[in-house]
Amino acid sequence: MSSEQPCRSADTVRFTAVIGYPLAHSISPRFQQPAFDHLGFAVRYVARETPPEELPAFLHELRGPQWLGVNVTVPHKEAVAAAVDDLSTEARLIGAVNTVRKAGDRLIGHNTDAAGFLRGLTDAACNPQGVTALILGAGGAARAVAVALLQAGARHVTVANRTVRRAERLVATLAASFDAARLAAGPLQAEAVRPALRGAGLVVNTTTVGMAHGPAADDSPLAAALLALLPPGALVYDLVYNPAETPLLRAAQRQGYRTQGGLPMLIYQGAASFELWTGQSAPVELMLAHGRQAMAERG
Ligand SMILES: NC(=O)c1ccc[n+]([C@@H]2O[C@H](COP(=O)([O-])OP(=O)(O)OC[C@H]3O[C@@H](n4cnc5c(N)ncnc54)[C@H](OP(=O)(O)O)[C@@H]3O)[C@@H](O)[C@H]2O)c1
Repeated sequence: MSSEQPCRSADTVRFTAVIGYPLAHSISPRFQQPAFDHLGFAVRYVARETPPEELPAFLHELRGPQWLGVNVTVPHKEAVAAAVDDLSTEARLIGAVNTVRKAGDRLIGHNTDAAGFLRGLTDAACNPQGVTALILGAGGAARAVAVALLQAGARHVTVANRTVRRAERLVATLAASFDAARLAAGPLQAEAVRPALRGAGLVVNTTTVGMAHGPAADDSPLAAALLALLPPGALVYDLVYNPAETPLLRAAQRQGYRTQGGLPMLIYQGAASFELWTGQSAPVELMLAHGRQAMAERG
């Protein structure tokens, strides 16, 4: 928990922000600010678009007393992990920071994506202990999901990625901290993923396929015929949160599988950041309602 308490109303306003580049897509201010307001904290949460060349200057500014901490998004998560004074266990294992909290003027890097992902899994009544999982994608989100599952006791995790070398690199990195027998990597191609699908209780999409406004917005990372290889009762979890119902989730629902979308994880990782900054329980239901409202307004 944070070593400093943020000031209450009537005290000097302090700042938190989400930093990234570009930032137009971020709904974090829409659900973080109401949480601070609800609990009476004199804190402003802003979106601070930060081009990579401005990151060092921002991190210097962040050490000042006016800052409570920040959320970090693409493309800065790895750069911030390398720049902070200390890292949480999760942030070290994931190699990326999505939350910075302050300890005096020191910057402590955390990664709440793993906790947010697991809370979304719990909502969907999926116990990660002993599960066999297939992760689609091998970027930053895949790393957080893999670490979360392995820490939570998953039996086996396969990482399948369009660029197979990236999946192999991710698994090799994870094998330094977890039993290599629990891990496998392969290409995101029909022949390669078939065996993993047949034995999986959980499939997690961490690719950008199906994401609104992305290059593959109308696509699913898995063809419907492949999805049908999953055992009955399997959970299909898509980290994409815009749209709420991706082509992958629609196909999974049509075939009778359980599904979970990415919005709860987004809110839960933000709620965990809020708790690191304030030392208080986040008003999660309120944050969820504001997050849903923000997405609905985007249409
Ligand atoms: N719900 C949440 O809280 C939450 C949190 C974090 C991330 N996310 C979402 O997760 C997604 C990934 O984020 P990230 O930070 O991991 O991004 P990233 O590091 O850029 O990774 C992107 C991944 O998508 C794959 N990919 C991109 N286009 C593809 C295509 N046409 N076909 C197959 N694979 C493709 C990439 O494969 P290659 O390696 O082959 O390029 C890579 O594995 C985003 O949609 C993001 O919004 C959600």
